[in-house]
Amino acid sequence: MDKQKILIHLDGDQPASAFDAIVAIDAGIDHLLTYGGCQPTDVTAIVHGALFTRGPADLKRTAIFIGGSDVAAAALLKQKVAATFFGPFQVSVLCDPNGCNTTASAAVVLAARHVPLAESSALILGGTGPVGSRIAQLLGRQGTRVLIASRTFGRAQTTCQQLASAVGSNFCEPAVCNDTASILRALHSCQLVFAAGAAGVEFLPVGWLDEAPHVQLAADVNAVAPVGLGGISPTDAGHQRGATVCFGALGIGSLKMKLHKQCLRQLFERNDQRLDLDEVFAIGQTLPQ
Ligand SMILES: NC(=O)c1ccc[n+]([C@@H]2O[C@H](COP(=O)([O-])OP(=O)(O)OC[C@H]3O[C@@H](n4cnc5c(N)ncnc54)[C@H](OP(=O)(O)O)[C@@H]3O)[C@@H](O)[C@H]2O)c1
Repeated sequence: MDKQKILIHLDGDQPASAFDAIVAIDAGIDHLLTYGGCQPTDVTAIVHGALFTRGPADLKRTAIFIGGSDVAAAALLKQKVAATFFGPFQVSVLCDPNGCNTTASAAVVLAARHVPLAESSALILGGTGPVGSRIAQLLGRQGTRVLIASRTFGRAQTTCQQLASAVGSNFCEPAVCNDTASILRALHSCQLVFAAGAAGVEFLPVGWLDEAPHVQLAADVNAVAPVGLGGISPTDAGHQRGATVCFGALGIGSLKMKLHKQCLRQLFERNDQRLDLDEVFAIGQTLPQ
């Protein structure tokens, strides 16, 4: 008989995320071991506990989820986890701090179902954050030209340099966007717009779609009022507004939730998987809306 499915949840935040715990339970995990306030120095003992308790054939019934609101801290935990594995002694790992990989993947999967990404240009508002920069990275891999918008040129430029290095091409350019006029100017050359600003940040007011009728797709991941793109409802899920296909935060969030659960389920198929942005996106492409 298969051993029970145990998910080890490493989270730099104290208390750890209730959201990630609930999604894990809803994904059918039998036991969740949550380590809140987890530091890289805690990792070796936790991973050894995972590796040395079950025989090699049962290692696939234990997996690790790395979350937390601090994406850089999660990257350190991930590094330490990988460094602790040796030979066949490993378990599968999903990395999704602050939901950034699942959210960005869901947004780009949905966009790709409506617009030919390789022939398009996209403006990413809030493009310097974890979600926005991952949307950009995925778009870059699909051949989309990207404008990374920020309130400050330096932040946009640094993000573009990091993305060029991650994707291996100069697919993005920085754009300073700090008011409606500068955003509409940047949007002039783009068929897609993604709003990935901090919660409650409105980038464009209601009515902007009338001034940018050439935009084929608008996606907003901010669910906290006011939304990032005025006039787009959080529940929009491919809703046509004029010539523009619109997705709001809940419209994207519905696929994000399915994707998060599917990634967790897939962890238990083998003991050697590392699910990060590209792998999560690939799983997202297999899901229906
Ligand atoms: N729908 C879902 O399922 C889901 C899941 C996870 C997250 N989210 C949402 O996704 C969004 C992005 O998350 P994140 O963690 O990447 O966001 P974040 O790091 O908090 O913010 C993203 C960017 O927003 C810009 N920003 C911050 N305050 C601003 C302000 N007052 N005015 C204008 N721009 C501002 C900053 O860019 P600059 O400083 O460079 O201008 C920042 O880099 C959030 O709204 C979050 O709630 C949604």
